[in-house]
Amino acid sequence: MRVLSGIKPTGKLTLGNYIGALKNFAKYQNENEVFIFIADLHALTLPIDPEELRNNIKLITAFYLAAGLDPEKVTIFKQSDVSAHAELNCILQNYLYMGELNRMTQFKEKSQTMDNNAIGLGLFTYPVLMASDILLYEANKVPVGEDQVQHVEITRDLVNRFNNRYGKILVMPEPEIAKVGKRIMSLSEPTKKMSKSENDKGDIFLIDDLSVIRKKIMSAVTDSGSEIKVDIENKPGITNLLTIYAALKDISLEAAELEFKDARYGDFKKAVAETVINIIGPFQERARKVIESGEVDRVLNEGAIKAAKVANITLHKVQKAVGLK
Ligand code: AMP
Ligand code: TRP
Repeated sequence: MRVLSGIKPTGKLTLGNYIGALKNFAKYQNENEVFIFIADLHALTLPIDPEELRNNIKLITAFYLAAGLDPEKVTIFKQSDVSAHAELNCILQNYLYMGELNRMTQFKEKSQTMDNNAIGLGLFTYPVLMASDILLYEANKVPVGEDQVQHVEITRDLVNRFNNRYGKILVMPEPEIAKVGKRIMSLSEPTKKMSKSENDKGDIFLIDDLSVIRKKIMSAVTDSGSEIKVDIENKPGITNLLTIYAALKDISLEAAELEFKDARYGDFKKAVAETVINIIGPFQERARKVIESGEVDRVLNEGAIKAAKVANITLHKVQKAVGLK
C-alpha cells in the first residue's frame, strides 16, 4: 500500500497535530511505501512571513524525524521541491468545479473573516493542490485529522470524474482517521478545535516549555460535576482530556474512563499532564538534536529526488491521458 500525508508549515504545531497526524505516520513505515511531506506551497494560501516559513519547514522536518519516521524507509520531502505538484495542479484545476470548492468547510471558515476582495485564489483552490499531492503518489491511504477528510473526499470525486472520462488513470485514495484523537479540542474552549493559528492558553504547542504545558493542562476548563466520563454534550472539557490521555497511551476511551472512575478532577489532570510531558519532553529533545545535527537539509534533498521519480511517472500518465503528450 502507498501511504501519503503532509502538514502545512504555518503557525506553531499543536498537540492536536501530534495526536491527529504526526504520531500516526511512523506506524505505517514498516509495511507500506510511505511519503510524508511538508506542504509549503499550501502555506502560502494565507499571508506568512518568509523567515517564519523557512523556520517552520525546518522544524516540521525535525518533528517528522522526532516522531520516529525513518528516512531510510519513508520518503520525506518538501512539496515545492517536486515541481510535478504544481504541474499536476495546473491540469487538475479543470476537473474540480467552483461550486464544489465553494462548499469546502475549510475555505468557508478561513475566508469568513477576510475582506471579500482580498481572498487569494490559492485559498479557494487549496483542494486541487491537495488532490495533486495525493494522486501523484498513487496513495491508497491518507492519514489525516478529521478536518482534512473533506479534502480527501473531494479528491475521490475528482478521481471518479477524471477516470470516467479518460479511463483508469488515477488511483482512488481513502482517508485514514485516528480512532481516538481525530479532533483534539482547545483546553480553554473545549467546543473549539485546538488550532495552531490561535495563540491562547487553550492550545498546547509542541515547542512549549514543559512547565507551560503542565500549567495549561492543570488550568484546562473542566465541567461542573465531579464525574470523569465521556460526554461530549455536557462534559466537553473532561471528554477532551480523556481523549488526549487515551490517544497518547494508545488505549480506548472506555479504558481511560475506567482508569479514572473514582479519581478527582485535580488528580486526573495531573495524570494527563504527566502523560503529555513524558511523551512531548523526549520528543522535543529528539527534535532539538536533529536540528543541531544538520540532518534536515540532507533528508529533504534526498527525499525530493526519490519523490520526484515517483511523481513524474504519474504526471506523465496524466499528460498522456488528456492529450498533452
Ligand atoms: P493543519 O494544522 O491544518 O496543517 O493540519 C495538519 C494535520 O493535523 C491534519 O491532518 C489535521 O487534520 C491534523 N490536525 C490539526 N488540528 C488537529 C486537532 N485539533 N485534532 C486532531 N488533528 C488535528
Ligand atoms: N491540508 C493539510 C493540512 O492542513 C496538508 C496537506 C496538503 C495534506 N496536502 C496534503 C495532507 C495531502 C494529506 C494529504 O495540514
